[in-house]
Amino acid sequence: MKSIRKELGLPQAPRDRLIFALDVDHLDEAERLVKELSPHVGMFKVGSRLFTSAGSLVVDLVHGMGSSVFLDFKFHDIPEQIAGAAREIARQRARLFTVHALGGPKMIEAVTRSLRSMTLIPGVSPPVCCAVTILTSHSQEELKLLGFNDSILSYAQRLAKMAVTAGAGGVVCSGHELSSLRSILPTSTLYVVPGIRGPSDEHADQVRVMTAGKAVQAGATWVVVGRPIRDAREPASIAQQIVEEIAEAEANEQT
Ligand code: C5P
Repeated sequence: MKSIRKELGLPQAPRDRLIFALDVDHLDEAERLVKELSPHVGMFKVGSRLFTSAGSLVVDLVHGMGSSVFLDFKFHDIPEQIAGAAREIARQRARLFTVHALGGPKMIEAVTRSLRSMTLIPGVSPPVCCAVTILTSHSQEELKLLGFNDSILSYAQRLAKMAVTAGAGGVVCSGHELSSLRSILPTSTLYVVPGIRGPSDEHADQVRVMTAGKAVQAGATWVVVGRPIRDAREPASIAQQIVEEIAEAEANEQT
């Protein structure tokens, strides 16, 4: 399993599969967490909140500590705009970035074309475009309010299939949809799973939650954890516990 991962350029050590969501407001808070957590996590996820405050300085900060960056802006706009944004993401040397699958196939195809047409520094891979299916904070009732009456699973399947056909390399989904998405998508698809909570963690605004171990067993390539680490008294020790949980789960992973 590990040698296949190496060939595909996928995370190999349990630590590489843990993405920390760097959801803070200021660069100095980010710096403290990046310094503390870079030995324990594989990647730092920067979202619209921190990027709006700190801009690309935060990308330099993470790269400077020798870690990889996931730019999670969940783009959803006309194809031309997002194709241009994807080029900038590649120039920032992010490893992953997100678009909303609801942006549609033309938007995702434009992203794919734009990334393919770029000349990158030798040895630097283009970022993987990951399509967000249904946010892990949405419940079935909330989707109904938005006018979506089918099940979350059927929307997640439809959106993921469309996005991957249009060229997305990965999908963002809850752990609950993982095994059914894996049964319909190509084996090369990568899975980013947020909404990770331990049995005693507060769910807060997350609805479709799962433990890191269960998500890895179900086939998550990466798990994304934010508040359970960020708000802990000792963030590094919680991150390390999650890495150990991932390592144990790998023994029972569905391949
Ligand atoms: O703090 P918590 O662990 O809930 O953080 C989850 C992170 O994953 C947040 O940064 C959020 O933006 C992100 N995310 C999510 N659901 C998605 C996609 C991304 O919670 N579908």
